[in-house]
Amino acid sequence: MARILITAALPYANGYIHLGHCAGAYVPADLYARYARLRGHEVLFLCGSDEHGAPITIAAEQEGVSPRELVERYHQANADAFARLGMSFDYYGRTTDPLHYEFAQRFFLALLHKGYLEARQEEQFYDPEANIFLPDRYVEGICPNCGYEAARGDQCERCGAYYNQLELRQPRSRITGKPPVVRRTQHWYFLLSRFQALLEEYVASRSSTWKENVLQQTWSWLRQGLSDRPITRDLEWGVPVPLPEARGKVLYVWFEALLGYISIAQRWAFERGEPELWRLWWTDPQTRYIAFIGKDNIVFHTLMFPAMLMAHGGYVLPENVPANEFLNLEGQKFSKSRHWSIDVRDFLADFPEEHAVDALRYTLAANLPETRDADFTWHDFAARTNNELVAAFGNFVHRTLQFLYRYWDGRIPEVPAELSQQWHRLAEAVWQGEGLQWGEGWHTEERAFVEALLSYPVQIASLYERFRFREAIAETMALVRLANKFFNDMAPWRTVVEAPELCARTLFICAQAVAAFAILFAPVIPLAARRLSSLLRLPASVGDPGEAGAGDRWSRAGRPLLGSGHCVEEPRLLFAKFPEQRIELQRQKLYALASSAAAPSQTEDAYATVEDLQRLGLRVGRIVAAEAIVGTQKLLRLEIDLGSEQRQVVAGLAQHYRPEELIGQKVIVATRLKPVVIRGVESQGMLLAAMAADGSPVLVAPIAEVPAGAHVR
Ligand code: 2FM
Ligand code: ZN
Repeated sequence: MARILITAALPYANGYIHLGHCAGAYVPADLYARYARLRGHEVLFLCGSDEHGAPITIAAEQEGVSPRELVERYHQANADAFARLGMSFDYYGRTTDPLHYEFAQRFFLALLHKGYLEARQEEQFYDPEANIFLPDRYVEGICPNCGYEAARGDQCERCGAYYNQLELRQPRSRITGKPPVVRRTQHWYFLLSRFQALLEEYVASRSSTWKENVLQQTWSWLRQGLSDRPITRDLEWGVPVPLPEARGKVLYVWFEALLGYISIAQRWAFERGEPELWRLWWTDPQTRYIAFIGKDNIVFHTLMFPAMLMAHGGYVLPENVPANEFLNLEGQKFSKSRHWSIDVRDFLADFPEEHAVDALRYTLAANLPETRDADFTWHDFAARTNNELVAAFGNFVHRTLQFLYRYWDGRIPEVPAELSQQWHRLAEAVWQGEGLQWGEGWHTEERAFVEALLSYPVQIASLYERFRFREAIAETMALVRLANKFFNDMAPWRTVVEAPELCARTLFICAQAVAAFAILFAPVIPLAARRLSSLLRLPASVGDPGEAGAGDRWSRAGRPLLGSGHCVEEPRLLFAKFPEQRIELQRQKLYALASSAAAPSQTEDAYATVEDLQRLGLRVGRIVAAEAIVGTQKLLRLEIDLGSEQRQVVAGLAQHYRPEELIGQKVIVATRLKPVVIRGVESQGMLLAAMAADGSPVLVAPIAEVPAGAHVR
């Protein structure tokens, strides 16, 4: 028995969990956690909300709420959706937990004292209008690598290149839309480069077990050479940097979110009333730590986090980081902004029946993006449910139990004791990896099927151990098909009359197969597996937390678990088909939502009209007076002659024009804007300016002589 610590990437609490997230990290993590518990391992399975960083503050701004309100809403909603989806977390925590703040700050100081952090002055984009330094996600510009126009400050979404934000071409602030200026600021760097050799050794030691995609990305980073990374940011929302000279700075979200895996274990231990228990999981070298993530998180978990843990010392490192590729939806990428998504909570609202949860888990698990991107389609969801869960699995269970009811009053038929004994011996041999010594008296079909019942659980286990869940599920369903074939080949409806003893053996074997499925399917469809266990009057073992101590239940699958005479309950259907219309409705809903999101750019209202232009009241004006506004660095007060009247305008031009050079200049003024008071001075219009390459404003003027007051159209 092993002690296995399992974490699943902490999702940002900035939106609802959707099926893409589930297929990326959460379904595989839950499959593994349940499987490991069924094997009798001691498991601690942790997840929680990532509640800081630019992804949160940007979403909060977009929704017009505070970051705290935002994370409150999504943390609760996502915790709830995960629970309803049967995610068997031992604890679902959050990074706004005070325990997390304390721990992340202590960790930072420990690294500082050990000499792995260094304060450095650096140049960074600053938005002078919003008065803040711009974190990477707050700047956009042209990718220095591929020319993509909406590249983010740290990484291009189109070509994947990573760069320093200062390398962006034509940068603009996402807050004000204006070009930022470059300013110096101080940040603390984690000296990642010092871990190059140790990390190479670490990754090499894992090479035989890590997935190809994970190794590829990780080695490509290692080959480029690791550079030191700033782990602080100029932001308000986050875990404050615990140094007096770092006021207004917080820990970089990735630095502290990764530590969330540890602080959430602390919270879990605290809630159990054993506050020190987390140490066993995080510091005892016997712990095997598996970190489930999606592919966009790979290097943070294979390089950054291990380096942080090495730097601190005393913690276990990830043994494996099984990262999945992406799931698409009906052939297109999931996109929150385009409303191309299926949120778990919407799914649950539209499919409230219990078996729908299992159907969804099964569909996702059978089609995980393990080695390449995969696609979720409503058609596939219906087909897998209707053909596999209902017509194959549900049918086998139902016909077996019904037969037992019809002919044996729901009791497991009598068979020769020798059959059971031999079967148990064969099972031992299979798990020991020995050859099978078949005794006398088995029919060919019986022997073939019992052999499958014994060997599949071993094979499927080995697939789970290697994180090949998709194949594990396919093999489980393959065993169901063999079970149906056995039932058909043995034709018990005939033998019940012609050869009752043979029929009893057939049903005895089929009943054991049903019991095996209650275990083998437990990781993927735990709700149905639990109902099935209760139909069989077996203790439910679905790999839930707290089932520990029940031993290796997995290795019992395929043995004769139901003794002759054991009474099962009258069968009830485990699944029902989803009718075609209901599925079609979902497809239509998806397309309708997406087209409503896309609507503004397609309808007439999205275009500006000539009237819109006229509403601005653009006119030529002549600057007749200009002076700096006392107490400001940027503002000028201008008086502008519009022919029929004179207007006062406040303009942020002081750093670009001297007052005396403006006097007498012709400019274009928007005259119909609502007057505003800026620094105590009323501004009754706005001047048009073009943005130069360096972001400075250049006033726009008519290129030939026109009188002041002329209309601009
Ligand atoms: O990609 C994400 O959603 C991140 N919030 C994952 C963080 S994983 C870990 F660092 F917590
Ligand atoms: Zn690019």
